Amino acid sequence: MGRNKGDSRVERLLDAMTLAEKIGQLTMTAAPDLATGPAGAGNLADDVRAGRVGHVLNLTGRSRIAALQRLARHETRLGIPLVFGLDVLHGYRTIFPIPLAEAASCDPGLWERTARAAAADASSDGVMLTFAPMLDVCRDPRWGRIAEGPGEDPWLASLFARAKVRGFQGRRADRLPRGRIAATAKHVGAYGAVTAGLDYAAVDISERQLREVHLPAFRAAVEEGVAAIMPAFVAMAGLPATANRALLQDEIRGRWGFDGVIISDYHAIAELMAHGVASDLAEAAALALGAGVDIDMMGRAFPQGLPVALERGLATGEQVDIAVRRVLRFKERLGLLDQGPADDGVRPARPVRPGRTRALSRLAASRSMVLLKNDKGALPLSPSGPPVYLLGPHAEDDGDQLGPWAGLGHKDPVGTVLSALRRMLPHRVVERLPAIGRGARPASPLRAGVIVLCLGETADMSGEAASRAEPVLPLVQARLARSAAALGLPMILVLWAGRPLVMNETLDRVDAALLAWFPGSEGPAAIADVLAGRCDPSGRLPVSWPASIGQIPSYFGREPSGRPFEPGDRYTLHYIDAPSTPLFPFGHGLSYAAFDMTIRAVAAGRWTGTGTLRVDVQVTNRGSRRGVGTVFLFVRDVVDRVSRPLLELRGLEKVTLAAGEARIVRFRLSAADFASLGLEPGTAPAPGEVEILAGPSADRALLDRRVVVLGPCLATR
Ligand code: NOJ
Repeated sequence: MGRNKGDSRVERLLDAMTLAEKIGQLTMTAAPDLATGPAGAGNLADDVRAGRVGHVLNLTGRSRIAALQRLARHETRLGIPLVFGLDVLHGYRTIFPIPLAEAASCDPGLWERTARAAAADASSDGVMLTFAPMLDVCRDPRWGRIAEGPGEDPWLASLFARAKVRGFQGRRADRLPRGRIAATAKHVGAYGAVTAGLDYAAVDISERQLREVHLPAFRAAVEEGVAAIMPAFVAMAGLPATANRALLQDEIRGRWGFDGVIISDYHAIAELMAHGVASDLAEAAALALGAGVDIDMMGRAFPQGLPVALERGLATGEQVDIAVRRVLRFKERLGLLDQGPADDGVRPARPVRPGRTRALSRLAASRSMVLLKNDKGALPLSPSGPPVYLLGPHAEDDGDQLGPWAGLGHKDPVGTVLSALRRMLPHRVVERLPAIGRGARPASPLRAGVIVLCLGETADMSGEAASRAEPVLPLVQARLARSAAALGLPMILVLWAGRPLVMNETLDRVDAALLAWFPGSEGPAAIADVLAGRCDPSGRLPVSWPASIGQIPSYFGREPSGRPFEPGDRYTLHYIDAPSTPLFPFGHGLSYAAFDMTIRAVAAGRWTGTGTLRVDVQVTNRGSRRGVGTVFLFVRDVVDRVSRPLLELRGLEKVTLAAGEARIVRFRLSAADFASLGLEPGTAPAPGEVEILAGPSADRALLDRRVVVLGPCLATR
């Protein structure tokens, strides 16, 4: 391969660097603005001036970023600009719904737009790199970080990965356009499968699960040109991801062709000692560098350990050069090496229109909410009628709605459900009830009205380091719901949560339940939109909702059992003390309309596997209002060399239909869709019967089904 201009510039810089400067380019240090891990010591400005730091995380504010950048450009020997990174997970100043909520919107166009808006917002301050998207497939709601990711399904996660990478970075692979930021696909290494949902615990899963469930979204991100990858904190089968050469170097760089940078998680290289695979920083640094990690986030490991590792022969100068080269190319891709001497190094900002971003946040929040239950048409609330009484800690929420990665969201005003509902329903009395229960009663008896219970988790109950052994509704809130039920009025629950919560009793008590998740800066307005029927609730669960804690992990992509459940037969698959199906399946979510979904045609009874297979699904709105239906398309390979999951998601489509309207939704499947996602592209599925199933959720009883016989096919792509 011939060298281009960039290559020779990178080589010139590399030739001019001392070892200390090279290690500086492999070091990322945290500013104290936001705490996202244990704090470190040292003076950031001194470290930058001395060339000991090449990247900074958690610094906020345009002028502060610009000042530090000037220092890097003008007061260091080589003038190499810094990269500024931050966890822009679901927004920077304007906060969008948490990623799990956004996944529920089943809308790749929306996923891309919110990432683009967050990138514009963050880049206008000088942030160049986000540690997102988080792509950890998770089937265990005890793990608080389930809130940050795309849910339980690898196909949906891959769709999410592509949209988010495009949104953050844009489509141009070689140079990031103005207003975009580099994305980091994190945390590779099956972090979502930590044992018993305990954050930072080890993972021990089969190679097959790793490849079929946990890796596909990362591969999709790489195919989309993601700039960076972050390995998980945790160890899998005894090997911490940060030291996993087979995964990072051989698989991701070698087989997938990833040519970006690998950034360790916060302090993760030094933590190789606590994992028990390195006895000192030198060994830890050598292991990580050897595995392909280029940047030590918040570590002492590269700066302190690498020089010793080189002396001891545990690492080589060539390995260091390879990593520095990748870092310099990354800086080039960010446009940092092209700036003139007068430039402060912060890429020119694209003006952000906060009003527009807030409107997008409201749209995203309303489309993410999931109507779990709606008996007797309790929702939507009509414009006039008896009073609406709000009860519960989130009725006048002061910021929990922003969720666990709130960025700078707290700096801008966020409304409350009380005020949003008052605005939305000017012809109804909307009041907050004082506490009830335990002798405290409303001042006068409530004869008519509807109670809106605003309950759920606080933001710090989900996210990193927020595992819950019992992911339930806080007890005091369950009691509040019980007392409220004694008032005898219809009850509507609005639920704040970063994960499914096992709360059957409260769900039984209420007439309707709207899962608002942590909806972001415009959450209250979006809640009012949905409660009042201004928007049809169109979110669908991206995770199965367990009926009991003992069911966890609960997910639809299970492999078959040799003894499937037969009612009345004890020796078949079931619990004797709980149902074995989830309370709400993956994909569940009601609309104010009602939809029928039927497979009209599959354009083949036998299929050779060449070209595509057309599947037409008719969706009919049988309700009395306009609404949004979501069709999920699943496949099942009935007989293969190994047993395949009972359902594998391969398509989804949203349709907005007027009352009585019907539409055909067309899917096209290729042979690749019948092969496992974890196989190398091009591997053909085994011939034989395959099922095609379509419907509103992963509840098999609601799916329409056709069988096609797949002939022996050649490579799939
Ligand atoms: C630790 C988290 O695991 C990671 O997701 C995050 O990007 C870093 N801290 C930086 O804040």
